[in-house]
Amino acid sequence: MLVIRRAKQIFTSSDKYGILENGSVVVEDGRILWVGPDEEIPVSLEKARLIDADGMVITPGFVDAHTHIPFYGHRADEFEMRNMGMSYMEIRERGGGIRRTVRMVRRATKEQLLEYNRKLVRKALSHGTTTLEGKSGYGLNLRDEIKQLEVLRELNESEPIDIVPTFLGAHEIPEGKDAAEYIEEVISWLPEIKERNLAVFVDIFCEKGVFSVQHARKLLTRARELGFKLKLHAEEFERIGGAMLGAELGAVSVDHLTAINEEDMEALAESGTVAVLLPGTTFFLGKSDYAPGRKMLEKGVKVAIATDFNPGSSMSQNMQFMITLAGIYMHFTVEEALRAATLGGAMALDLQDEVGSVEPGKKADILLFNVPDYRYIPYNYAVNNLRMVIKDGKPLTL
Ligand code: NIG
Ligand code: FE
Repeated sequence: MLVIRRAKQIFTSSDKYGILENGSVVVEDGRILWVGPDEEIPVSLEKARLIDADGMVITPGFVDAHTHIPFYGHRADEFEMRNMGMSYMEIRERGGGIRRTVRMVRRATKEQLLEYNRKLVRKALSHGTTTLEGKSGYGLNLRDEIKQLEVLRELNESEPIDIVPTFLGAHEIPEGKDAAEYIEEVISWLPEIKERNLAVFVDIFCEKGVFSVQHARKLLTRARELGFKLKLHAEEFERIGGAMLGAELGAVSVDHLTAINEEDMEALAESGTVAVLLPGTTFFLGKSDYAPGRKMLEKGVKVAIATDFNPGSSMSQNMQFMITLAGIYMHFTVEEALRAATLGGAMALDLQDEVGSVEPGKKADILLFNVPDYRYIPYNYAVNNLRMVIKDGKPLTL
């Protein structure tokens, strides 16, 4: 039994418990047993292991529901090219972008890919991410897509973080191929990925000039028949109908949505599909068209915020900074943004019964921040105020 005592605030992300002042959390067998005020701890402290939160702030572990881990190599030069005026899509047309990372991932051995991404995952953990979604999509052939998914599996087994694997074979059209022909290939790989249980979700980059709504419908319909859960990269640069398709097919989430309109929002509110908002991407691409997060909240859409961590359009694992961006550019209150980064992320991974809030029954994935108020986390921006991560009830050394 573990008791974390004397927290100044516990931001629970739970409707029932809200934001508790001067609270404690009791943990048993890796799960939360109780949360409440210090003076009401229901167990004897003598036999418990104690952690004195000593006036710190507790939140649930972050659930980063959209990253492109695992990848290999970097594209720091493209960052500079963009700053000098070239757009993400122009860089793509000149042989940079996703296809460049594909070349690097294909050349890497599985061992190299594993060790490279172990470091990336540990950095996410050291900034408070305790559950992370990762995608393939830098292989674009069966062998290298599977290599990526196997790396996710090994990271999940060997690191103190929960990793949810997504198959994103339809991330880009491989050089020299045509989109329709490639989609058929991707569809033919699905049974093996399912049989080997290598992915929970199937995702697609549904975007003008990449994969159309028709391609997405075909792939996702087959994926759903095989028992995969669905996600889409939708309406990132142009509105072509991916969000509507996600709502129609019962996707768990649709992600990006910077070009979404009101009709789309209504469809998402109606279907319960989670909107995963990625303000780090808009920020890092130097753009100003942030997804209309405030409006989505008002329309009753379930929202999550995530990093989109990838070597091209969003090179940060720091969920704390995403909360800052959601506040400034999407006009979320800190409470809304923190919920979107925890419980929202859990909903976007269909793990809302397991993680995302500090309440009895959930995994004891708990963060201790050395700050005087939960609002201080995004306010003291782009730095890491995390003091301790507790994963499955175990304090980690960072
Ligand atoms: O979500 N939009 C497509 N995929 C990523 C970018 C990946 C990359 O540039 O390597 C995204 O932004
Ligand atoms: Fe993405």
